Amino acid sequence: MAEKEEYEKVKDTGHNWDGITELDNPPPRWWLNALYLSGLFVLVYLILYPSLPLVHDSTKGLLGWTQIGEYKEALAVMEERRAPYEEKFSQMTIEEVLVDADMLNYISASSKVLFGDNCAACHGVGGQPPQGAAYPVLADDDWLYGGTIDEIMMSIAKGRIGLMPAHAGALTKQEVNLLTQFVIDSSNGVKNEAGRALYDEFGCAMCHGDDAKGDKYAGSANLTDRVWRFSGEEEQVRRTILHGVNDSFDPQTRLAMMPQWSEKMALMLEIKADVLNGGEKVEDINWEDELSGDETERLSESDIKKLAIYVHQLGGGE
Ligand code: HEC
Ligand code: HEC
Repeated sequence: MAEKEEYEKVKDTGHNWDGITELDNPPPRWWLNALYLSGLFVLVYLILYPSLPLVHDSTKGLLGWTQIGEYKEALAVMEERRAPYEEKFSQMTIEEVLVDADMLNYISASSKVLFGDNCAACHGVGGQPPQGAAYPVLADDDWLYGGTIDEIMMSIAKGRIGLMPAHAGALTKQEVNLLTQFVIDSSNGVKNEAGRALYDEFGCAMCHGDDAKGDKYAGSANLTDRVWRFSGEEEQVRRTILHGVNDSFDPQTRLAMMPQWSEKMALMLEIKADVLNGGEKVEDINWEDELSGDETERLSESDIKKLAIYVHQLGGGE
């Protein structure tokens, strides 16, 4: 009966449905306290932090905190940590970088981001494009245009477009078959005299070399290894021979273009190489005379240098 008495002390609302009375219990204390506290929190927050939207802006809050401000502070801390490395790197030759483990570590970390942002869309994460993608693997020691750091730097700065003419109009069906077989045999180390004769007759050696190992000045693929630039399947090899690579006259040609990342740096590398070849000194170059000043730059010289070292390390280095 004790329970019933408790109820009777409580005010009722006067509502009664079929003998069930609606009581007017106050909410529990803890619940009310939580409600007041959260109201207080909102007030304090409104005063301290940016909160109420105005027409063009919002209230600023007494603390002066903003999300973008916090981001900028963190960025400044990062820049401050990187600055001594960047400063040191800009003064170092590539040979010096290669024997400086600490610097190599730094470059590897910062190039991973650069590579992810600019290169991975084509060359894949870590220089490993998905199988069947028509982009060269950068994480092996097989190079179209050469694998020294200087050559890699030139590939990035200048961009690369390998050219192989379509041969559809020049070859009979049987000749195409023979050449296709020759390429597949070569990659397996099998001799193919008849194919070899055609290879010489149709000028394949001009670009792919007498030994068919490719030529870094033409960027032509090595035909004697099992690393395929496109694919080792018979149909695919035939297609390359018939339609070529980047042959703008053949609508079925393969497209393979490495974008240019710095016209300016490519030009500078070429001029430096010329000057060195002529037995003169790089310090004597008058860059203001040599450059017009409107050469495009999508990546800075320092970024390209970093990426070349990074890619060189991926491939194990030549
Ligand atoms: C739009 C796609 C694309 C992007 C982006 C791209 N590349 Fe390439 N890259 C290519 C293609 C295609 C080739 C091969 C060109 C050819 O076959 O003539 C290539 C070739 C290269 C080579 C020469 C490889 C060799 O075997 O000699 C290097 C090095 C290279 N890329 C590095 C980079 C770096 C570093 C970046 C980022 C800054 C980058 N690439 C961004 C498509 C791309
Ligand atoms: C003017 C230069 C040139 C000539 C001539 C030439 N090629 Fe090529 N070839 C290239 C280049 C450059 C590439 C690589 C393109 C690339 O990777 O961007 C290539 C690629 C290939 C490939 C693809 C290899 C792979 O790994 O997927 C085959 C196969 C091939 N050539 C066969 C031949 C044959 C056979 C002939 C003669 C009928 C020939 N080429 C003539 C420049 C040439």
